[in-house]
Amino acid sequence: MLRPVLVALSRSEPARRLVARPFVFRRVARRFVAGETADAALQVVAELNARGLAATLDILGEGTTAEADAQRAAIAYLDLLDAIGTRRLQSHVSVKLSQLGLDLSAELAVRLLAQIVRRAAEVGTFVRVDMEDSRRLPGILRVFDRVWEAGWHTVGVALQAYLYRTPQDVERYIARGVSIRLCKGAYAEPPQIAYPRKADVDRAFAALAERLLIAGRSPALATHDERLIAGARQFAAAHGVPLQAYEFQLLYGIRRDLQDALARAGHRVRVYVPFGTHWYPYVMRRMAERPANLWFVARNLLRP
Ligand code: FDA
Repeated sequence: MLRPVLVALSRSEPARRLVARPFVFRRVARRFVAGETADAALQVVAELNARGLAATLDILGEGTTAEADAQRAAIAYLDLLDAIGTRRLQSHVSVKLSQLGLDLSAELAVRLLAQIVRRAAEVGTFVRVDMEDSRRLPGILRVFDRVWEAGWHTVGVALQAYLYRTPQDVERYIARGVSIRLCKGAYAEPPQIAYPRKADVDRAFAALAERLLIAGRSPALATHDERLIAGARQFAAAHGVPLQAYEFQLLYGIRRDLQDALARAGHRVRVYVPFGTHWYPYVMRRMAERPANLWFVARNLLRP
């Protein structure tokens, strides 16, 4: 019941103005966000790399409404990629196309994504296009497809197991050799297009994970769900899928013990590391996934 309310609040400008304050960042958001600056986040990536974990850096921001802001975001990504290259960090970047101006113009998003993907190729790394809410999904896939068809292949896309359409998208991208990040899905979607029950989402995730392990190119299984992770590991071992052929991805600040345990067991593990000042919607989605986090918020805000 709380989930749709929290997801709706993540899009509310008055709620953002009320909550997004330095005090709340220090006490709450910092658990999920690596810092407000690129330097702080790059330091976190260096620490992850030292623990044997790779990263994917996300500059927080979404729903950009001005072209100049989209261009500024793209320049920030280009600088970030340069820093990843110079510091020789094991890190991809993750981008939201609505931050690169998708809501304004698909042409703009294609141009900016292509610039970022080209720079990633130059520094020898990779760009993951995050998936956003279902209203934006068709536009995101169209922009992704255009960059892919232009011959830029150091880019992959995230797909959400809760959507009924995802098995078709997975097959289409497997056929083209596109790397997919599979996640459950973090938005509030209507039952006409997405499984409303968690058990069905989990079943869909398990089936898609198996399909990707067998036929996908470098799939990334993005979940903290221990049952699903154990199922994927067993399936991969039983079908002779090498450990290096796929990776697990987890979010910064969530299940650090599991991140380390998987790496110790020889798995490739990548941690999604968001940073920046536009942390409000991201942190609210983390609350929606686990309303028990609200106790953590209350405890930290109320402590003297
Ligand atoms: P589930 O919600 O069942 O949680 C399993 C367990 O994980 C919980 O019992 C708890 O222990 C822990 N856990 C999960 N969420 C937590 C939280 N917020 N706080 C504390 N503990 C938590 N979504 C999307 O729509 N588009 C995208 O592009 C991405 N990208 C992405 C990348 C990566 C690397 C990850 C890990 C996730 C995403 N997601 C995403 C988010 C994803 O869709 C999903 O909402 C979350 O991962 C939570 O679902 P779980 O798979 O962890 O399972």
